[in-house]
Amino acid sequence: MSNSIFSDEIIREGVAQYGTPFWLYDRATIEKRVQELKCFDTVRFAQKACPNLSIISLIKKCGAVVDAVSAGEIVRALRAGFKGDESDKQVPQIVYTADIFDRDALELVKKYNIHVNVGSADMIQQLADAGVKSNLTLRVNPGFGHGHSQKTNTGGPLSKHGVWHSQIKDCVKLAQANGMWITGLHMHIGSGSDFEHLSKVCDAMRDASRRLGSHLRVISAGGGLPIPYKESEKGNRIDVKAYYDLWDKARKDIAQSIGHDVALEVEPGRYLVAESAVLVAEIRAVKFQEDKLFYLVDAGFNDLVRPSFYGSYHAISIVSKDGRKLDSEKDVIVAGPLCESGDVFTQEEGGFVVTRKLPEAKVGDFLVLHDAGAYGSAMSSNYNSRRYAPEILLSNGELHVIRERQTFEQLMENEKIIAL
Ligand SMILES: Cc1ncc(COP(=O)(O)O)c(C=O)c1O
Repeated sequence: MSNSIFSDEIIREGVAQYGTPFWLYDRATIEKRVQELKCFDTVRFAQKACPNLSIISLIKKCGAVVDAVSAGEIVRALRAGFKGDESDKQVPQIVYTADIFDRDALELVKKYNIHVNVGSADMIQQLADAGVKSNLTLRVNPGFGHGHSQKTNTGGPLSKHGVWHSQIKDCVKLAQANGMWITGLHMHIGSGSDFEHLSKVCDAMRDASRRLGSHLRVISAGGGLPIPYKESEKGNRIDVKAYYDLWDKARKDIAQSIGHDVALEVEPGRYLVAESAVLVAEIRAVKFQEDKLFYLVDAGFNDLVRPSFYGSYHAISIVSKDGRKLDSEKDVIVAGPLCESGDVFTQEEGGFVVTRKLPEAKVGDFLVLHDAGAYGSAMSSNYNSRRYAPEILLSNGELHVIRERQTFEQLMENEKIIAL
């Protein structure tokens, strides 16, 4: 594919060194994307999109901080060198964002003094009960969401996320009664490039700030910046400046009404990493079912689940094993190795299998799934007892292993055969 960030030679070299399937990331792409968002006061990476330790430390090196949504993500962030020890003076390097605390997360938040973005009043009470007295951010559900699917909608009465907008004052009272101040407001609605909708979110933030009052120090725009997955979208990237301007105006209005500066955060996952990576697989079978041509590859939805789970589109290209030129396109269905009929990479929402125009390929050629850096490896599983694929980073022209392929031993290391 002409616009791939990786040359065919690099793909072949990766296969020769690490076998298939493997994830391949490009350092320069991640650096570029972080840089593009530096207009915001703080870029907070939603590490759930790609929590590999090398990736989050690269993001740290670029000057961004992180969000953590679980105890495990707190531990990762600490291991990558981000600090807890939240103080009033500095931007917290780790913010725990969730609608509940599990007991592990609450313990770590307390132990490392990690800033919390609370999504329920119960979290405030549980912090108080644990003897924590610190400033908090409140994740607000403004009463409406956005998104084509209930699986990705993050607001409105059917969403579990955030504190319902009319309950903000109750949360403020509860926090204050327990010696804590709510100093941040957060909304993650994911308007994407729908700027009319985004203006509504900015208005909802203005509204929420009025309910909070003058202790407000930071507003967070959440994540949700889209990337162009389809070839036809490539020339139409999100206008980051226009996105920023809408939020900046909201921030300035809020600052004016409360009488002091308010910082503006953004919390992207996908935008920073999606385009940085591909999943490389080997074609292991080429067969017809009646007149439908299938390429069956050695990566499945245990590796990249987005097509099966959401009907998401990932561009696909083929790299020949032997360097021969590929042409004569065919209509192909691309599927994986799992014992599951839904293990198909070319499908649309609702599970409808579709074909993709791809070059004529042979067993042994390599199939590349593009824009797989966000919610790719991060959402992998061991389903069908398949092992986690290795993660490789291309940095300054060299390939580095940033996660080894899981071994069969590791796959079963926590299991026991008990005497029955
Ligand atoms: C609270 C929060 N912030 C940020 C993000 C990142 O979203 P995206 O990857 O679309 O930027 C998510 C994603 O689910 C989220 O839940």
